[in-house]
Amino acid sequence: MRKLFSILLISLCILSLNGQSKAVLNLIPEPVKSKVTSGNFVFNENTKFVLVPDNQEMRYAVERISDLFQTAAGYHLQLNAPGIKNNVVVCKLNPAIKQDEGYTLSIKKNIIEIEAKKPNGIFYALQSIRQLLPPQIESTKKAENVAWTIPCAEIEDAPRYGYRGLMLDCCRHFMPKEFVLQYIDLLAYHKMNTFHWHLTEDQGWRIEIKKYPKLTQKGAYRNRTLKGQYYGDDSKRQWDTTRHGGYYTQEDVKEVVAYAQKRFVTVIPEIEMPGHAVAALASYPELSCTGGPFEVQGLWGVFEDIYCTRDEVFSFLEDVLSEIIPLFPSEYIHIGGDEAPKTRWKRCAACQERMKKEGLKDEHELQSYFITRMEKFINSKGKRIIGWDEILEGGLAPNATVMSWRGEKGGIEAAQQGHDVVMTPNSHVYLDFYQARSKMEPHAIGGYSPIWHVYSYDPTPAVLTPEQAKHVLGFQGNLWTEYVLSPDHAIYMVYPRAAAIAETGWTPKEKKNFDFFYSRLMEILHRYNAMGINYNRTFLSEERSLKK
Ligand code: ACM
Ligand code: ZN
Repeated sequence: MRKLFSILLISLCILSLNGQSKAVLNLIPEPVKSKVTSGNFVFNENTKFVLVPDNQEMRYAVERISDLFQTAAGYHLQLNAPGIKNNVVVCKLNPAIKQDEGYTLSIKKNIIEIEAKKPNGIFYALQSIRQLLPPQIESTKKAENVAWTIPCAEIEDAPRYGYRGLMLDCCRHFMPKEFVLQYIDLLAYHKMNTFHWHLTEDQGWRIEIKKYPKLTQKGAYRNRTLKGQYYGDDSKRQWDTTRHGGYYTQEDVKEVVAYAQKRFVTVIPEIEMPGHAVAALASYPELSCTGGPFEVQGLWGVFEDIYCTRDEVFSFLEDVLSEIIPLFPSEYIHIGGDEAPKTRWKRCAACQERMKKEGLKDEHELQSYFITRMEKFINSKGKRIIGWDEILEGGLAPNATVMSWRGEKGGIEAAQQGHDVVMTPNSHVYLDFYQARSKMEPHAIGGYSPIWHVYSYDPTPAVLTPEQAKHVLGFQGNLWTEYVLSPDHAIYMVYPRAAAIAETGWTPKEKKNFDFFYSRLMEILHRYNAMGINYNRTFLSEERSLKK
């Protein structure tokens, strides 16, 4: 009831401020500045796009909305040479616009004018237009009797952070390529710009490496998978003995990257080291400390068998990365680095010899040696490394960026050391956590992270000085898939919480307001309905009783 009351109150305030009934722009993320003016612009089959300049990237920027019109309205929006002043959407690059991804959007009765520094800004302006159109624009088939009308408005917008992302774990459960594309499309719709693709794990290696075919012949499949609840006691565990697996060929990867580029999304591949490597060790046991043998894991958790630190392992990883790097235009390669127990290294003659030779005082320093050595290689190829916050232990590699997942402590420490940081704390944005207390919720890994809790997070910790705060590049939500067996279930876990993540990554802190966000969320749900996606609805009945 309180929720309803506040929504009414907000709507009334906005109505009285603007004195007209269509005054609310239901946009997620909320723009920096927006103002509804009078009248409407109506799209029809004669509406044209003008691109200044007309080049490939500008065409990518308009292609998505044009495709939507083709499906939902039954006609394409055609390109036209500059000069027309009526029934036109003019998209123009303007170097005077300060922010890289910023845009201005002016919707008048006869003309829509968009200006941006770069084509991605044009793309974001068009995602705003998409959200102002009737929800049927998202329809997967032709929608009848719809007036494609949007309110006249003036918007000035730019993101708070340059990195706004979502991670998808395609290892615990393999996700088909078509779903990976959909995942990217949806995050771009919410003006996020990074897809972190978790590709290697104990439970499966998911990317073709031509020099090491066993990684996918053997490492991409497991013969059993834990069913239901995780029990520490093996005798209580139940197993699904269906063979599970799959992998992406290098051609698949090229297709995913090209699809993402058209949506101004960077794809960061994650190749885990030195831990979470059992699928690789099952394929090539000589990369371990003990020699194996190993099976691709069907159980979740953290495993003691990790890569050894012999020279052959580094040669292997360098070969793997030499095939990975040309596939991904991303500046970053994610090298994992999390949850690597030191048990095997402590008992391995080769690892102990390495420590002696390199003057390393403990196994944490050996992990730091491992990551730093890989960083040198990756830097030599013109790329940077990003890794989970454990890479701080034993000393951070000189140019590393840290992804802070065990809360924000690692992120704070890294920023204080002058390193770049992406915040992705499990306290708020682990999307494998429960989002509602309803008994109807499917089994999840644990935790409780309802949408208002996700929304409440601020990615720039207050303890950082303004100089240190500049190292916070942005914000990301993570979907781990131990208990997420299908694409539909993945969407269920991610949406609508990802809308809260998108707004937190984009909208200025002082403009964030959960009640107003919630009212706009109710509107975007109609759009999710039109898309036909299986988003979570049980959050609607949650109390906000744990609000900070
Ligand atoms: C992680 O959740 N192990 C990064
Ligand atoms: Zn070893």
